[in-house]
Amino acid sequence: MKSYISTTGIKRVTVSNSIEGGGNKGAKVAEPSAAAARGRLSSRTLLPVVLVLGIVLPFLFVRIAFLVLESASSSSCSSPIECKGWRLFSRGYISQKPREELTRALMELKDGNIVEGGTEDALVTFNELVKEMTFKQQDIKDFAFKTKTMLLDMEQKVQSAKKRELIYWYLASRGVPKSLHCLCLKLAEEYAVNAMARSRFPPPEHVSLLSDTSFHHIVLLTDNVLAASVVISSTVEKAANPEKLVFHIVTDKKTYSSMHAWFAINSLKLAVVEVKGLHQYDWSQEVNVGVKQMLEIHHLICSHHYNNLKEENFEYWEEHQNFFEALSPSCVSLMNHLRIYIPELFPDLNKIVFLDDDVVVQHDISSLWRLDLNGKVVGAVVDSWCGDNCCPGRKYKDYLNFSHPTISSNLDQDRCAWLSGMNVFDLEAWRRTNITSSYHKWLKLSLNSGFTLWQPGVLPPSLLAFEGYVHPIDPLWQVAGLGYRSSSAQGQILEAAAVLHFTGPAKPWLETGSPEVRSLWSRHVNFSNSFIRKCEVLR
Ligand SMILES: *[C@@H]1O[C@H](CO)[C@@H](O)[C@H](O)[C@H]1NC(C)=O
Ligand SMILES: *[C@@H]1O[C@H](CO)[C@@H](O)[C@H](O)[C@H]1NC(C)=O
Ligand SMILES: *[C@@H]1O[C@H](CO)[C@@H](O)[C@H](O)[C@H]1NC(C)=O
Repeated sequence: MKSYISTTGIKRVTVSNSIEGGGNKGAKVAEPSAAAARGRLSSRTLLPVVLVLGIVLPFLFVRIAFLVLESASSSSCSSPIECKGWRLFSRGYISQKPREELTRALMELKDGNIVEGGTEDALVTFNELVKEMTFKQQDIKDFAFKTKTMLLDMEQKVQSAKKRELIYWYLASRGVPKSLHCLCLKLAEEYAVNAMARSRFPPPEHVSLLSDTSFHHIVLLTDNVLAASVVISSTVEKAANPEKLVFHIVTDKKTYSSMHAWFAINSLKLAVVEVKGLHQYDWSQEVNVGVKQMLEIHHLICSHHYNNLKEENFEYWEEHQNFFEALSPSCVSLMNHLRIYIPELFPDLNKIVFLDDDVVVQHDISSLWRLDLNGKVVGAVVDSWCGDNCCPGRKYKDYLNFSHPTISSNLDQDRCAWLSGMNVFDLEAWRRTNITSSYHKWLKLSLNSGFTLWQPGVLPPSLLAFEGYVHPIDPLWQVAGLGYRSSSAQGQILEAAAVLHFTGPAKPWLETGSPEVRSLWSRHVNFSNSFIRKCEVLR
């Protein structure tokens, strides 16, 4: 029979080699129809029989494999395959005896006997297993052992591949995409050669508006020209009174000329835009020292966690995705951490709306300036649109180390953390507090604790420093988490949200994000702009 089957040459039928394995081990295992057919084999009936066997036996084989797993896990299942798998088939498909035999074989087979990563002669494919069972006439114990080893080995491989894939996905966010780099270079070039790109703005008659507190001031700290352009064009497009808006973009020295060139060439008709480089600030020595120290400690925190991440076997990667914050480029970015100096950056302003560069504005936001913060310093989304016991972002315990007494004695771990990215700040109230110095105090505590107080990122020390100064605003002001793989926010919520925030590694200007979510952002990119076209910014 074997020769007929092998001459079929169909890959799948190789599984039916197990006719021999199953047949040898005992006819009980075989299906009644197969047993009956065995007697009357003739050249005419052989083909249909082979076909029937080809169909039935793979199922039988898989059934045995699952049975093996079921027995292995007898009371508890330690992995999803073991739990779900075997219910595909009903019980009693094969007779009682081999099952008992298998169960016994597996009871005797302790997990410890199975070497991690498979045994020396570990089999890699089912075909090999089947061949081995066929040719070597092994007993049921051996079969159980080999099958379990193989499945455990495969599962390990799948788990490890999943982890790797996740890490690569996070790592992908570290690279600046070619198109953004190109945009920056082309604009810097334009700044050098084109007087218009260097022209001063806002025009002289609008300069006084930059510190006019009756206007609506929006602050952006960013080194990403494309992102800034999306934030501003989406805000202006949805604004009921765009002529009341004044945008303040603060950027670093290397991005300044590109940022300036972009907004000089693509000037807005209605709103006022100011672009300032950090090098243009004339700060006191005290502020300079503070900024430098802050950045140094954040650098240390990020590299400490980054090194840990490399050594870590990613054992708890699922529960602690925040670990990966250390991989994020924003972890060490000055523009990201500078927000704690907003009162110093804008000494003439009192109420501002702060927007991160990875947001897109979908509705008119002018009512934010009328919001009463009840004497608090920051208005932020704290409560949830997603129901009770569900935080719109994460909980305190996801950011801070509550095993540390300094943290656990100050805060409640199950509280929802407020969302950054779209906040109203009352700068006058802020100046009356010690928030910035408290932030520095926490940074030093973190340094002295060997960086065990919190996960890397911009929010943890802010959660501590702003404690007691947060005024919760309507959850629909901001929906965050659009840069993670699974965002719980769906259709209606996404539409209703005033601001969408792409927190997470899949920034909308990268290719790693889901296209549908990214389109909410990219529809504000002007694809007919010649720089955007030249640099092939992805749609
Ligand atoms: C700020 O700190 C100073 C000195 O440390 C202290 O005297 C003052 O009461 C603090 N103010 C607030 C609002 O906590
Ligand atoms: C949390 O704090 C405890 C107590 O100081 C420390 O042993 C532990 O390593 C910290 N955990 C992390 C992840 O830093
Ligand atoms: C898009 O860019 C083109 C060319 O620079 C410009 O003429 C047009 O006004 C821009 N559209 C918008 C909506 O800004």
